[in-house]
Amino acid sequence: MAAVDSFPLLLREVGRSCSSFIETLALIGAFYTAKTCFTILGDAYTLIRVHLIPRLLKRPDFVKLYGKWAVVTGCTSGVGKAYAKELASRGVNIVLISRNKEKLEAVARELVDSYKIETAVIVADFSKGREIYPAIEKALLGKDIGILVNNAGVFYSRLDCFTSLTEAKMWELIDVDIGAATMMIHMVLPGMVQRKKGAIVNVSSLSCTHPSPQIAVYSASKDYLDHLSRALYYEYASKGIFVQSLIPAFLSTKMTAFINLFPKEGFISPSAEVYARHAITTLGISKRTTGYWPHTILFMLGNYVPDWLWAWGMNIVAAYHHERKTL
Ligand SMILES: NC(=O)c1ccc[n+]([C@@H]2O[C@H](COP(=O)([O-])OP(=O)(O)OC[C@H]3O[C@@H](n4cnc5c(N)ncnc54)[C@H](OP(=O)(O)O)[C@@H]3O)[C@@H](O)[C@H]2O)c1
Repeated sequence: MAAVDSFPLLLREVGRSCSSFIETLALIGAFYTAKTCFTILGDAYTLIRVHLIPRLLKRPDFVKLYGKWAVVTGCTSGVGKAYAKELASRGVNIVLISRNKEKLEAVARELVDSYKIETAVIVADFSKGREIYPAIEKALLGKDIGILVNNAGVFYSRLDCFTSLTEAKMWELIDVDIGAATMMIHMVLPGMVQRKKGAIVNVSSLSCTHPSPQIAVYSASKDYLDHLSRALYYEYASKGIFVQSLIPAFLSTKMTAFINLFPKEGFISPSAEVYARHAITTLGISKRTTGYWPHTILFMLGNYVPDWLWAWGMNIVAAYHHERKTL
């Protein structure tokens, strides 16, 4: 009888001692909910500010804002060519840099005929390392470079683990994806600082947001570019220079032609032309962006993916790739 009598008492006691624990849990829950709500609101604001509003406004005058000339590296195909066209359509003269003289001259002719701008071509193979830069510097003499688009990049020809990468391929990735952008910035930034205006766009990749096995050197090189861009933004924003880390996800270009994961030129995997049309509207607006709103949604979702899950996904995709010889 005494035990039955004491049971409600016991419950009350337990309830009393738990209440502070429950209150703490409720507080944590409320804090987490508020934080998630703020993040979602912030993300929605970013989508509107970076991707919607600039497209509704009048095109900014890049010549006035940054200068008459732009350098675009890797401009004979894909994003570089499409971005160069977007700049040219805004009246900016273009210096085109890639490896192939005939392709460079064909793109230059197309730009001159379509947009009545001036062009210059520089043949350079960024995989050759330091020796090529004095010639590029000489070719740029006398041109006030207002915009630099570090777009040239190389990817893997198949997803593979680090030890399968040849030494030559590893150095190509380092020289083109890291070295070229760093050296080009080193070359043009002093002039921009002197003129107190300029813009630098470094084309990174969504793979920079997580360690990505099977494309480890590529993803690490894009992380380098992302960090470099953000650091330079903070160093030079007060001197009138805008540095942007541009982080596309998946694009339908020559580089990814061997991947069949996404439909060619779909909503998630746009053509270089569609991508560049969107990305250029974020120049001067966002220091770190995917440049394309469906990719920004992917980027935001990616923030919730832990590294281990991302890495697991990369390994699964690579295993599928090796089995089928395609993605
Ligand atoms: N495609 C995607 O899904 C994707 C996703 C995220 C980020 N990105 C990045 O976006 C950028 C452009 O990629 P894309 O897809 O447009 O590639 P793409 O169509 O293969 O174009 C690459 C460009 O880089 C030039 N290039 C390659 N190696 C070079 C070298 N050693 N020296 C000088 N120029 C060189 C090529 O010109 P030549 O062959 O005429 O020399 C070409 O114009 C890259 O930085 C890439 O990492 C692409």
